[in-house]
Amino acid sequence: MATSNTSQARYSMGAIILHWVIAIAVIVNWRLAETGHHLEGAAAAAYMNPHKALGITILFLTVLRIIWRLMNPPPAMHSDYAKWERMLAKTAHVLFYFLLIGIPLTGWLAVSSYGKTVDIFGLFEMFALPVAENPSAGKSILEVHETLWTGMSVLIVLHILGALKHQFYDKTNELGRMIPGLGKR
Ligand code: HEM
Ligand code: HEM
Repeated sequence: MATSNTSQARYSMGAIILHWVIAIAVIVNWRLAETGHHLEGAAAAAYMNPHKALGITILFLTVLRIIWRLMNPPPAMHSDYAKWERMLAKTAHVLFYFLLIGIPLTGWLAVSSYGKTVDIFGLFEMFALPVAENPSAGKSILEVHETLWTGMSVLIVLHILGALKHQFYDKTNELGRMIPGLGKR
């Protein structure tokens, strides 16, 4: 099984696994927060506790993914794409990494401002970030958290449309770069 990108047009297996695990985790975490938001008390906690734990997990997986990317550079983009398309894709990727760090970090910062720690799936307690207890700051940070998510949801839609355009209109087997066994370019 290949683990490096340098000699092929597909992402490394490590990058592919991290891409799909994080993508699924982000969607699950969005649904957990949306559902928990409309509930109260213990029912809300049943969704929000896993939301926080999965969010912290996403943060650490993203740090791992960035380190992996530095050690395993992605394959060059398809040379047939227009320059603006390549620029747009690169900008979207940088923004994704910014949001995959920024969204969980603001969530963690907000919870820490409420003076709370995060229970990681009953396995251990994640420490609070070293900030003063200040619920009104926590509330404002949560607004930033939710605004960043709005930006990310738009980016996800654009990202998927871009991938599908390259796959089915440009016919470059774009998805084959992120899905093993989908044919070689
Ligand atoms: C929450 C959902 C998703 C997130 C956060 C996400 C994030 C990313 C990021 C950050 C990259 C750049 C990888 C790098 O160069 O380091 C990437 C690449 C890619 N993603 Fe996604 N992705 C998501 C969902 C999807 C879906 C649903 C598809 C399929 C329709 C997809 C297809 C691809 C493809 C084909 C690439 C390779 C782009 C290239 O050729 O350079 N992604 N994704
Ligand atoms: C990639 C990771 C994350 C995503 C995509 C995400 C997404 C969201 C979304 C969409 C909401 C708004 C729900 C709504 O008002 O309808 C939300 C709220 C919230 N999130 Fe996150 N979040 C993530 C990570 C975290 C983390 C790590 C924490 C804390 C450790 C956290 C704590 C919260 C809290 C406390 C709320 C407020 C819930 C409420 O309004 O009732 N989130 N999150």
